Parts: sequence; C-alpha cells; structure tokens
Amino acid sequence: MSDIEQRFELAVAVAREAGAVARQIYEQPARTRTSKGPQDYILESDAQVERVIRERVLAAFPDDSFFGEEGGGEFGRDVWVVDPIDGTSNFARGVPHFCTSIAFVRDQQIEIGVIYEPILDELYVARRGAGATRNAQPIKVSGIASMREAIVEAGWSMRRPTEAYVDLVDQLYRAGAQVRRAGSGTLGLAYVADGRSDAYCELHINSWDALAGLLLIKEAGGWTNDFLANDGLRRGNVVLGCTPALKDIMAGAVGLNIR
Ligand code: IPD
Ligand code: CA
Repeated sequence: MSDIEQRFELAVAVAREAGAVARQIYEQPARTRTSKGPQDYILESDAQVERVIRERVLAAFPDDSFFGEEGGGEFGRDVWVVDPIDGTSNFARGVPHFCTSIAFVRDQQIEIGVIYEPILDELYVARRGAGATRNAQPIKVSGIASMREAIVEAGWSMRRPTEAYVDLVDQLYRAGAQVRRAGSGTLGLAYVADGRSDAYCELHINSWDALAGLLLIKEAGGWTNDFLANDGLRRGNVVLGCTPALKDIMAGAVGLNIR
C-alpha cells in the first residue's frame, strides 16, 4: 500500500470518528456557543472534534504538518488541512447540515479529500486520479449546461463586502439560476460533485472549507478554479466548482479570469 493510500485509510477512519463525536454533541440539549464576532460562531465542540483528528493524524504521521480551522498549525510539504465542523452556524442553531472536512495536500496538490456528514451518514471520499464516491458508490457532476436549469449555491461570509455578494446573486438570478445558501461551503462543494447542485461559488473561502470538496468535484468530472494559486492554502481564495459546461458563465459572474 502506498503512503498516500495509508493516509487515505486514516482520513476515512478519522472523519467517521470525528463526525460521530460531532453528532453526539449536536444531539445533546445545550451547545456551548460564543461568538468570534458578528455572524461568526465559535463552539467548544469544534475545538474538541479538531483535537480528536489532530491527535490521530499526528500519532500515525508525526512528520506531517497539520492545519485546523480552530487550532491553526503549519503548512509544510505534506499537510493535513482540516475543518472539524463546517456549517458551524447550522450546528449551533440546531440545523442538521454540517460536516467534517479533511484534505491532505502534498507539494501544492490535493491528494485526498474526505467529507463526512454524520446526520445522514454520508461519507464522500476522493483520491487524486482514483475517482470520487458517496458511501462507496461512484458520483459524478450533473450534465446541466444551461443556467436556466441550474441550481447554484453562492456562499457568503463577512470577509467580502455585502455589495459584492448582492451583485453576484443578482447576476446568477438574472442568468436564470435557482440560487441557494445552505451554510456549509464544504457540503456545497460536495453536492456539486454529487450532482445535487450544478455550481458552488464564493468570493472568498478558506482552504480548510474548500480543498476536500474541490478534489471531489475534479474527480467527479467537474471543473474548479485553481484555488491554490496566489497562496490559497494560507490566504484562502475565490472558489468556483461547477459542471464543465457552466464554467464560462459562472466564472464571469464571480469575476474570475480563466483565459
Ligand atoms: C463557513 C461556512 C459557510 C461559508 C463560509 C465558511 P464555518 O464555515 O462554510 O458556508 O460560506 O465561507 O467560513 O464557519 O461554518 O466553519
Ligand atoms: Ca468552515
């Protein structure tokens, strides 16, 4: 078994374990919630779940680096990039739409992406060059080629001006799309890979939210922007993942130059 396959097996086991911890906390009546700032939740549960992942990964691969949304870390040549609970505001408010996201990046290439949604018990996995699956069944992006038939998710955060988001959504509606925002960028990307929607875009997203989902989309036959350009790993970036036929019109809407 190659060292990537070993890491892949670990990522799958750890995502399931972390998701089970998240679900157990979610089902308890009181969720301890404080705020990092307006519209930015921080939960003790995120840190708790991240500790589970960090300990298991570094016990197995002590020379790898690890970066988690809650605890930070380093970005070395071999790095695990983790969001313990993406969809934190959903989690905090009792909406069952959140997940654990684990990506492994080697030399600026996303090698492994694993996303686990513990409420529906849906496990999405991808390995570079080896396809993408949900609960072991191969997945592929939809065949939608027209915005008039498309379901598009437009993620939002306070990291970009509200006017820019409103402008983006305005363009998407005018092009004929049905626009959504479900509160987990990671699941938004996984759903594109799975053909449940046709595009996910956001004017800025962090690497821990996006990397696993981006690999899923590529391995499921979709198109993504070059998220890791301009140090996207550390700084985050604009993100777009969609069916190949929608890439030009979607890139235009998010202001991406793909020529
Ligand atoms: C956020 C969610 C949201 C996306 C934001 C993320 P969090 O992460 O993925 O859908 O639009 O960019 O920051 O706070 O739920 O972990
Ligand atoms: Ca997140």
